[in-house]
Amino acid sequence: MIKMIHSYWAYIVLIVLILAVFNAIKGFTSKKEFGTNDLRISLFALIASHIQLILGFIAYYMSSFYETMRGVGMGDVMKNSELRKLLVEHPVMMIIAIILITVGFSKHKKKATAIAKFKTISIFYTIALLIVLAMIPWNLWFTN
Ligand code: HEM
Ligand code: HEM
Repeated sequence: MIKMIHSYWAYIVLIVLILAVFNAIKGFTSKKEFGTNDLRISLFALIASHIQLILGFIAYYMSSFYETMRGVGMGDVMKNSELRKLLVEHPVMMIIAIILITVGFSKHKKKATAIAKFKTISIFYTIALLIVLAMIPWNLWFTN
């Protein structure tokens, strides 16, 4: 159930994050004012990713992979690429991506000019998006 919510919520995170990245890059290159909608889309990406973080933690402790980990031990998890991917690489890298989004959002608030705001969000959100794209378990996502 929670695993399903984490799986469906991932669509929202991905779509909103992509929109926020394009919006920030567009704002940066067109040198426009930083308006309410620009704040809104960046904030939505932040909130969606924070919710995904919580859902991820719950999915983690409820997943059958976690059961397996409790059974075989961490040493064997690290030796098995499938288990390591979901129990170590996916969570660690996604948490880093979410931290980047959070830092980018916090930093943009302290910038005085629109161009600096768009630039900060462009950089932090783009790196986060690349990490998210790289760490989504695509094979699981589309077969479930
Ligand atoms: C484990 C769970 C979570 C952690 C560790 C976490 C952590 C953080 C951190 C460090 C900030 C940055 C504060 C700043 O410097 O501005 C932040 C901001 C925020 N978080 Fe979370 N968060 C979590 C869950 C959530 C959830 C579930 C939601 C929404 C339902 C949420 C919504 C927000 C919002 C709206 C902001 C900032 C808004 C702003 O700065 O204007 N967070 N969070
Ligand atoms: C931006 C952040 C994240 C995105 C976009 C994301 C996306 C996904 C997707 C698409 C799946 C495949 C679900 C399926 O089976 O259909 C998945 C699985 C999983 N995710 Fe995440 N995730 C994120 C963050 C996290 C975090 C922070 C954790 C843990 C702390 C986590 C733990 C897991 C676990 C344990 C699974 C495997 C569930 C299972 O099949 O039993 N995820 N994630």
